[in-house]
Amino acid sequence: MDILHDISISDRDFHRLVDFIQKNYGIDLSKKKTLITSRLSHSLRQRGYTEMAPFLEHLFSTKDPDDLELILNKLTTNYTYFLRETDHFTYFQNKILPELAEKHKRDKVLSIWSAGCSSGEEPYTLSIYLKEFFGSQASQWDTRILATDISQQALAKAQKGLYQMPADMPDTWVRRYFTKDRASGLYQVAPSIRNNVIFRPFNLMDPIHFRIKFDVIFCRNVMIYFDQPTRDALVRRFWEAMRPGPTSYFFISHSESLGQTPLFRLVAPSIYQKK
Ligand SMILES: C[S@@+](CC[C@H](N)C(=O)[O-])C[C@H]1O[C@@H](n2cnc3c(N)ncnc32)[C@H](O)[C@@H]1O
Repeated sequence: MDILHDISISDRDFHRLVDFIQKNYGIDLSKKKTLITSRLSHSLRQRGYTEMAPFLEHLFSTKDPDDLELILNKLTTNYTYFLRETDHFTYFQNKILPELAEKHKRDKVLSIWSAGCSSGEEPYTLSIYLKEFFGSQASQWDTRILATDISQQALAKAQKGLYQMPADMPDTWVRRYFTKDRASGLYQVAPSIRNNVIFRPFNLMDPIHFRIKFDVIFCRNVMIYFDQPTRDALVRRFWEAMRPGPTSYFFISHSESLGQTPLFRLVAPSIYQKK
């Protein structure tokens, strides 16, 4: 526990930091002064800083990768869990996968992207649903999921694949897809599920130049931290990154909405089909 007071930040430095983060990472922290100081203080003290100004001076002037990593690890919100908004996965399994399995019955390749995957629970949940759907045929299909985030800390946790077991995980899935680590009491995601997810750092503010176009994109609980122009621009980039036609789907969270858009048609709560 850190019993020292949080390191304070001047209004000028607060605005400079908020602008820097919004411009480079999309995240709007303009109402989060307390969050900034409380999340950064301990790590700054560990690095020998007693004031915010010299750290920010160093960050802005050098763009030191260690400083940037610290900022992103501390100031992103990585809250996530397995089977989050389960109705999305039910729709994915019952409606989208049968459609895509038919569409791709020759090439046997599905392209799925979990954008803002945090510590991995979302792409691993998708990986389990894919395994359940394809069953004994799974090895004939390439269903690898691209999972990206800007927090290195979240990605490191995702890659380890060690979690507390949530109460609502079906028992059969616990037995099939996890092994208990006796030392920690945590559960490790099975290699067959882990190997189907490719984790990569990626900033959603950057142009999207992946080799492939996607059938399905999940970007849930990420754009809630962005302002409207940033969201609108990103939604267009997602649209461009998807395969053409109505068998391409885009998922956001139940607490978000795309509003009126010529790019997508709402087909179920917070699930959109490409127009
Ligand atoms: C609340 S988590 C959502 C995790 C998961 N999608 C879910 O719904 O449970 C939001 C994630 O978005 C990531 N994020 C925020 N801004 C980002 C950006 N500009 N590029 C990539 N990821 C970003 C954060 O690091 C964080 O891990």
